[in-house]
Amino acid sequence: MKQVRLGIIGAGRIGNVHSQSVANDPAAVAVAITDINRDSAEQLASMHGISRVADTSRELLDSPDIDAVLICSSTNTHADLIVQAAQAGKHIFCEKPIDYDLARIDRSLDAVERARVKLQLGFNRRFDSNFARVKKAIETGEIGRPRLLHIISRDPGPPPISYVKSSGGMFFDMTIHDFDMARFLMGEEVEEIYTAAGVMVDPAIGNVGDVDTAMITLRFASGAIGIIDNCREAAYGYDQRVEVLGSKGSIHTGNRYPNQAIVSTGASVRRDLPLNFFMDRYAESFALEMRSFIRAIREDTPTLVTGIDGRIPVAMGIAALRSHQEGKPVKLSTISSTTATRS
Ligand SMILES: NC(=O)c1ccc[n+]([C@@H]2O[C@H](COP(=O)([O-])OP(=O)(O)OC[C@H]3O[C@@H](n4cnc5c(N)ncnc54)[C@H](O)[C@@H]3O)[C@@H](O)[C@H]2O)c1
Repeated sequence: MKQVRLGIIGAGRIGNVHSQSVANDPAAVAVAITDINRDSAEQLASMHGISRVADTSRELLDSPDIDAVLICSSTNTHADLIVQAAQAGKHIFCEKPIDYDLARIDRSLDAVERARVKLQLGFNRRFDSNFARVKKAIETGEIGRPRLLHIISRDPGPPPISYVKSSGGMFFDMTIHDFDMARFLMGEEVEEIYTAAGVMVDPAIGNVGDVDTAMITLRFASGAIGIIDNCREAAYGYDQRVEVLGSKGSIHTGNRYPNQAIVSTGASVRRDLPLNFFMDRYAESFALEMRSFIRAIREDTPTLVTGIDGRIPVAMGIAALRSHQEGKPVKLSTISSTTATRS
């Protein structure tokens, strides 16, 4: 079977991660890359052996030698690029989130449907072997019927304020992964969300209308209860843990470390800090999600993270934000075609 020929749009942090995954996968080849900042595209092209730098995303989408595109540009470009890529007949891998506006997301998903191209969303954590094991324990009934879910998701440090201004805010750039993880692990939908959130890390984050610390309570359709525990800063580094309590037992996963060494002295028993951020902590899952997208194209099978999987976490983000603003629980059924508005 021939190699899948990919074009990459966006040569920033995540464009680099995905270019590396493609370079490591003999089933695909990145034939072109583009970025509004040409220097960034040229840099990744030379790092990962990508032969062509396209001047624009339009030029890349019009290229007949490209089967599929990886949309790795800033979030505010995703919805339009999905429409353009679908109309150009390209399969699409798009980073999360699709957009913050459900109407714009729906237009993108319609275009994908009409063009009958494949779409996979960048919820890479689904491909993490620890979280996959938690899902298996739930799916197989190993821990019985789930009652409580606890997702701890704390960053090592806050992003720059320029990023906070354009990212849609914490619920859409950070918690979005946890919303996805909650429905992925539990295998059911959330019906109601209650948020307690505040600004405890940096007042500048509050000044641009965002929060940096939150506890988000989820009520699932079955009655099970979840908590997402988020903070933009944890002094000891990237903290990514999950626990599920079911009727027959519980399962939990801890952080990943650069080594397994434990140092015991007369003063303490200690270990090195966890892997510091997403590029290291989730390296395995980034490689596996890309392999899965490439396989779906080669074998003409459905992608494992679909358009609706991209839409629902955004609706959850809108509900979480509204709950924070109104100080009361919000039912997901009240979130229709609307957008998130920060105060
Ligand atoms: N799955 C994950 O864990 C994960 C991690 C990081 C980022 N992301 C997502 O990936 C996207 C990019 O994030 P990043 O951290 O790489 O940001 P970044 O700022 O490092 O890179 C974005 C790049 O896109 C380019 N760009 C912007 N508009 C463009 C356009 N119209 N055409 C071509 N290039 C354009 C910018 O010049 C920049 O080089 C965001 O949507 C973010 O939410 C996902």
